[in-house]
Amino acid sequence: MPKEKTHFLCQSCGYISPRWMGKCPECSAWNSFTEEKLKVSPRRRSKAAPGSPVAVGKIERGAEERIRIGIGELRRVLGGGIVYGSAILIGGEPGIGKSTLLLQAVDDICRSGYKSLYISGEESARQIKLRADRLNVTSENLGILTETDLGTIVATIKDYKPQVVVIDSIQTTQTPNSLSPPGSIGQIRECAYELIDFTKREGIALLLVGHVTKEGVIAGPKVLEHMVDTVLYFEGDKNHLYRIVRTVKNRFGPSGEVGIFEMTETGLQEVRDPSRIFLSEKEKATSGSVTTCAVEGTRPLLLEIQALVTNTSYGIPQRVSTGIDTKRLALLLAILEKRGGLAVRNFDVFVNVAGGVKIIEPASDLAVSIAVASNLWDKPFNAKSIAFGEVGLGGEVRSVGRIEERIKEAEKLGFEEIVLPKSNLTGREKKFRIRLTPVSSLQEALERLR
Ligand code: TYD
Ligand code: MG
Repeated sequence: MPKEKTHFLCQSCGYISPRWMGKCPECSAWNSFTEEKLKVSPRRRSKAAPGSPVAVGKIERGAEERIRIGIGELRRVLGGGIVYGSAILIGGEPGIGKSTLLLQAVDDICRSGYKSLYISGEESARQIKLRADRLNVTSENLGILTETDLGTIVATIKDYKPQVVVIDSIQTTQTPNSLSPPGSIGQIRECAYELIDFTKREGIALLLVGHVTKEGVIAGPKVLEHMVDTVLYFEGDKNHLYRIVRTVKNRFGPSGEVGIFEMTETGLQEVRDPSRIFLSEKEKATSGSVTTCAVEGTRPLLLEIQALVTNTSYGIPQRVSTGIDTKRLALLLAILEKRGGLAVRNFDVFVNVAGGVKIIEPASDLAVSIAVASNLWDKPFNAKSIAFGEVGLGGEVRSVGRIEERIKEAEKLGFEEIVLPKSNLTGREKKFRIRLTPVSSLQEALERLR
């Protein structure tokens, strides 16, 4: 008879402690620990036979087979098609389009002859049918099952023998093997573990939907990120026109890649020329608006940075940003103050990346700094120019990667000038016709604006 033991589990990150704690030492969440019963069986001596290591040079590579996907933006974030037996987690806030994207994806896969099973614990078969009709999903090879019990799910997969399985969502799946309540991190972890273990052995590709809480973590989650091969997140919120899917982790391709979709009446449509679309709403030349070229993953994206600088009405000035890290903005403002001589300390500063894209790389520093100065002085930056470069603490403008892709993208969209780091020039850029204005410091860039 196994004896019962308990431990305490942080519901936000999965940290385990033998005692209850008020604050999680791992993720700093407050009051997040709940008690969990554990089944403990008495330890046995291992009787396993030794494994046989193979010299690395002798291992056969084998072809890494992938399941073809016709949706280009999805293929991009996955780093190609779906690898057999891989587990992919798709996270995002409720209503952002996870179910829509996956239903479209499996339909597309089925059209090339594969068999897929879409298992939903969230919606009834009729609700799924309504969505399928809107999306024009009719594939014969696509099975729909509404089920939350893991045992039934696994038995159905064994019986139906699909190549691709969607679980929508991992939070609604439950197993009697975990003694924690449904939806808790204990359940999520156990279900994900059993599913991944089973599908890997069978060589079935597994797509898991995970809901993300307001704070932007998959509810119950860092644990899941470690268990799967690929993690895709829907970025931003559902009020934006475009849906941006980012690769956060990928064992089979580059991470950081972004896929861009637009939610329409008939589901998610790929955005083929995102730079053009993101810039289509740009006003002529307004103060505080600067176009930059960010490379997210491997793709250059032209994005408009908007800054608004207004008098502070309360004691502490506000610094609000969407699309760039607020700490990065605070740093850039400090550099502008100290090196550029801008008295931003008495002003509220708001910075926004138009279109809802998040810029992770620091190459947008220069554009953000110019946008703030431009709005503060009410001096518009040339609408036919773009700027990029990292800004260092000394106010120096530092070089960035993938320079030729950035120049090409700006040229393609008809820009006439690029303000860029001097240290990036190697002489090879001579082949471009666009005017290049190198700067080595923030002061130099601001001088030009004046
Ligand atoms: P959904 O895929 O259900 O989101 P999630 O699974 O992430 O919770 O997407 C729901 C939203 O998308 C909903 O507000 C309706 C909208 N939508 C469309 O605009 N067009 C469509 O064709 C579909 C299917 C949904
Ligand atoms: Mg859904």
